[in-house]
Amino acid sequence: MGKMGELVFYTPTRNQGTELSNMARLAYKMDEKIQLYIDGRFEDSSDEKEFPVYNPATNEVIANAAKGTADDAKAAIDAAEESFDSWSETPPPQRAEVLFKVGEMIREQREELARILTIEEGKALKESLGEIDEGYDTIMYLAGEGRRAWSNVTPSEQPNKFAMVIRRPIGIVAAITPWNFPFSIPTWKIPPALVAGNTVVFKPASNTPLIALKIIQMFIKAGIPRGVLNMVTGPGATVGEALINDPRVKLVTFTGETTTGRRLAEVNARFLRRQVLELGGKNPLIVAADAELDVTVKAALFAAFSNAGQKCTAASRIIVEQPILTKFTKHLVAGAEKLIVGNGLKDGVEIGPLNSKSQLEKTRSYVKIGQEEDAKLLTGGYDYHDKERGKGNFYPPTIFGEVSNDMRIAQDEIFGPVTTIIPAENVDEAIEIANDTRYGLTSAIYTKDIRSAFKAIKQLQSGMGYVNQGPTAAEVHLPFGGVKDSGFGREAGEVAIDNYTEKKAIYIDYSYTDRPWYFPWKD
Ligand code: UN1
Repeated sequence: MGKMGELVFYTPTRNQGTELSNMARLAYKMDEKIQLYIDGRFEDSSDEKEFPVYNPATNEVIANAAKGTADDAKAAIDAAEESFDSWSETPPPQRAEVLFKVGEMIREQREELARILTIEEGKALKESLGEIDEGYDTIMYLAGEGRRAWSNVTPSEQPNKFAMVIRRPIGIVAAITPWNFPFSIPTWKIPPALVAGNTVVFKPASNTPLIALKIIQMFIKAGIPRGVLNMVTGPGATVGEALINDPRVKLVTFTGETTTGRRLAEVNARFLRRQVLELGGKNPLIVAADAELDVTVKAALFAAFSNAGQKCTAASRIIVEQPILTKFTKHLVAGAEKLIVGNGLKDGVEIGPLNSKSQLEKTRSYVKIGQEEDAKLLTGGYDYHDKERGKGNFYPPTIFGEVSNDMRIAQDEIFGPVTTIIPAENVDEAIEIANDTRYGLTSAIYTKDIRSAFKAIKQLQSGMGYVNQGPTAAEVHLPFGGVKDSGFGREAGEVAIDNYTEKKAIYIDYSYTDRPWYFPWKD
């Protein structure tokens, strides 16, 4: 990992430098509870209720968070409304200064942030460091937009007339974010909204409010004005619903399950408001017969099992061309069995726990479904009973073979460390199978044949496509998002500012003369 000023490349597998993981640092307990942050003040929820936050590796309570109410959501929108005029009038380079400062703090607090992320979300520390770095990259990229955020000047049809496009902020943005990337996904949403001049109400996932609080604290330290960024923790059914049912909210940006996304889209349609929806995935990784075996196996293991498979981009369908099927399967299973599952803070651990008991339950139930569907359980599919892992939400990397694409384990998003191997006669059939899904987030092909690669690039129905990389680990300056049931719109990178601004066409006539279409018309 480079220091400030050095060139830093984010790859999730590189050596991330300083190790924090020693037993002395495995415990974490917050002294204070996580409060709401509304109009520049931390406060309890209006009915003073709280909810516990767990460490998924131990199931110990690590903090308590304010359980926000509909009234709290409304108060946050009030604050965002009041602060909008002054924030939207603040020059963009000045707004960007706040982002640059937060970026510097992320760099300084990198290891502490990663540790909190692992303790709260569960993922292995190296992955957490990668996620913090991704947040840093995103915020620095978007801070640059304060001096860029291009619009254009364009010729007019008439003489002595000037035409241009300017950008205006949209208004109040509701940012509703998931627990699986509780640091990097908020950084895809909050910084572009802010640098573009919007004000924000942030509703983080209830399982990961601690890292959300850290984000808020950095913004406060960086000087974000009162009311511009607010946070309301609490259930989607109350806080989320109150946010999306308020007509003053002009944009809803959401990452999470497709069912919730559909519900949001219905409400957003009623208000005719803008939305960005990043939803589920059932992402294919095609392994062509000419693929480089070792590299492909490693990539598939990372794409299927990193973050214990709790990624909307996870490789949950590995579609393998017949000639390489037996060999690939053997190597993948052997590789999965070598993965080290344990507390993500520990040295050497590669796969942490699932984030919650319900996620663990869901995974178990799909393994049962797979067995009932007569898929062949090749590895995994059991519970841990040892002293350490028995306490947490751990589940082993699990692979089903002889899967047919119409099975539920090949169609439903499991969001756990479970992947499927689906045989295909050839690349054409593999592409057909890959597209036979309601989802379309990301896709990948491993091949050395440029014809197969381009066929996949063009024909796979997905918002992102990878050639000789697993379908995960997007870079922050490219658009992220899916087609079909995987979502609506794109975010990050080049489209971020488009999402959070209205383009306004301006015509300036400096001729002070009649135009031919004015009344009365001349022949
Ligand atoms: C998600 O799972 O919601 O590029 C997004 C990737 C991850 C994105 C995950 N950083 O695969």
